Amino acid sequence: MKQTNRVSIIKSPANIAFIKYWGRSSTKDILPLTDTFSMNLSNCYTIVRLEVVDDSGVQELFIKDYKAETHKQDTGTALLKVQQYYARAKKYLGVTKNFGFRIYSENSFPKKAGIASSASFFSAQALAFATLFEKKLPEKQLSILSRLSGSGSAARSVCDGFVVWKKGANSTNSYAQSIAPATYWKLVDLVLILTYQEKKAGSGEGHEGAHTSPFLSCRISSTKKRIRHMLDTFKTKDFVTFGRLIEEDAVSMHAVMMTQSPPLYYWSGATMEVIKKTLALREQGIEAYFTIDAGENVHIICEKKNEKKVFSYFSKLKEVQEIISNDPAVGTRLIG
Ligand code: DP6
Repeated sequence: MKQTNRVSIIKSPANIAFIKYWGRSSTKDILPLTDTFSMNLSNCYTIVRLEVVDDSGVQELFIKDYKAETHKQDTGTALLKVQQYYARAKKYLGVTKNFGFRIYSENSFPKKAGIASSASFFSAQALAFATLFEKKLPEKQLSILSRLSGSGSAARSVCDGFVVWKKGANSTNSYAQSIAPATYWKLVDLVLILTYQEKKAGSGEGHEGAHTSPFLSCRISSTKKRIRHMLDTFKTKDFVTFGRLIEEDAVSMHAVMMTQSPPLYYWSGATMEVIKKTLALREQGIEAYFTIDAGENVHIICEKKNEKKVFSYFSKLKEVQEIISNDPAVGTRLIG
């Protein structure tokens, strides 16, 4: 019979970056080159069930993919990453005792498709390991621990609503903080699923390659100005300027991706079609802006008052398989 002691359940959101993280100043410590800014997503999240097992030799991972009926045991790369992260978390938390664990993870959205599944998974995992080692961490420490998973964007999922991750100068001062609660601004992120396929290239190697792009220095200097401008705009809720800055940042990141060596082309024909359709929608007087992470799928940002119209417009496109509609959301939580 399986032996289990404590059980904890954690829910953590994915997030969409308005000012994106691409390239690192330290690979070891996962430090970004610029500050970044994001919003947590209400309907794209990971639920992790942690079972603490007496036998410290037990390290098991079960994953239920989007729309799958059951969890399947993973004995490959995903388990290895979790095991490596367990060792790193143990070191960070300064604990010596070993615990066994069984982790059941479930996603409300397709993974590895440019919707920050590793951010939601690893931020949930950070709280799971803190709970495993019976450590109650302040938010700042949880954000650092999430960042150390290797998925830097996980640092942002921890905090509520709208979040800034300051790049910091070293591992102890690079963490995210909420700058406004989820209720602050009724923005919507319509995630347009153009493909369910998992991307070939992970972000890890991509961050390394960023340094080979001749456009990286230009992105860094323009991003510093852009984030200041965006945060000013955020205060006044000037959506048109905000939206333009969101698009500018996404295109600037993809310009680096496409010009690094080896190049990363995440956009497909369908991505480009959606970009054009977004511009056409604006010509009709409806304010909606696109942003794209490391994947083919597109996020459309609009204000809640326009959600129905924007949803209906994009749901008619043949390229769009499904739309997941998200409001701003709270950060990582223990829910059971
Ligand atoms: C392109 O290193 O956080 O989404 O492990 O793929 O989640 P994953 O990646 P991470 O880099 C992703 C960066 C980005 C932009 C962003 O979210 O800021």
